[in-house]
Amino acid sequence: MKNKQEPRHLYNSAQWAWEMIGAIEDYKPLAHYIFHRIKQHEAIQTNNILHLGCGSGCIDYHLKTYFSITGIDLSENMVKSAARKNPECSYHVGDMRQIPLKGLYDAVIIPESIDYMRSFEDIQKVFSGAKKVLKKDGLLLVIIGYDPEHFPQNRTTVEQVKQGSKELTFIENNYTADPAGKSFEATFVFLVREKGRSEIIIDVHKLGLFRKNIWQDAMLKAGFSTEPVTDEALESIEQKGTWLLIGKNDH
Ligand SMILES: C[S@@+](CC[C@H](N)C(=O)[O-])C[C@H]1O[C@@H](n2cnc3c(N)ncnc32)[C@H](O)[C@@H]1O
Repeated sequence: MKNKQEPRHLYNSAQWAWEMIGAIEDYKPLAHYIFHRIKQHEAIQTNNILHLGCGSGCIDYHLKTYFSITGIDLSENMVKSAARKNPECSYHVGDMRQIPLKGLYDAVIIPESIDYMRSFEDIQKVFSGAKKVLKKDGLLLVIIGYDPEHFPQNRTTVEQVKQGSKELTFIENNYTADPAGKSFEATFVFLVREKGRSEIIIDVHKLGLFRKNIWQDAMLKAGFSTEPVTDEALESIEQKGTWLLIGKNDH
């Protein structure tokens, strides 16, 4: 199921660049947002959480104070980095469309990674899999980064970071050929300069772009009651158009 055509250097061979551009402290507001939304919506006390697409564990670093955390990510390098940051959490390499675990969790969270699902079927697999590992009355909390109605067409951002002798210029561009929805590309260009040598790495990530009703349908079909939440608090932490979809495993 791993997409061999799309190497995603940022999470694999150039995972060091991910570490350079994202400081753990940057994730504190999002982690606190997730914590408060769980507390607001939980029907049972939330003790253990499964984080799908956990990346390098920056959100877990803040959430682990409150919950016991298990993380799954497709990229081995991201998982290794998460385990180094959070030795008290449990991490596994795996695909969120085929959750490789049998335990039962009070909540499943998917922040900043569900956009990698590019078809209704894949979204459906993730939500149905989450239902299987959730306790009765558990919560599924999904943060969807991009809404076709607010897509930042051709937005280009540049970050520059220096660490020791390594200088990184990191460019990101978001583009959709079909603003009505379905998919978009996030293109990353890494310009790396170190000790008189330079290298350019290019990464093109293909992501899904679906209307809110599609996400909600997928959640209903997977057997959850749903609650879509669009709030300025989340948009101010992330970006305009980022929204939260909550699933309740109540029937
Ligand atoms: C932008 S990072 C977000 C990581 C983390 N949730 C955070 O906010 O720090 C996206 C992550 O999703 C992971 N990912 C993408 N597709 C996946 C899949 N099918 N199953 C599991 N993880 C996936 C990538 O490997 C990457 O680590």
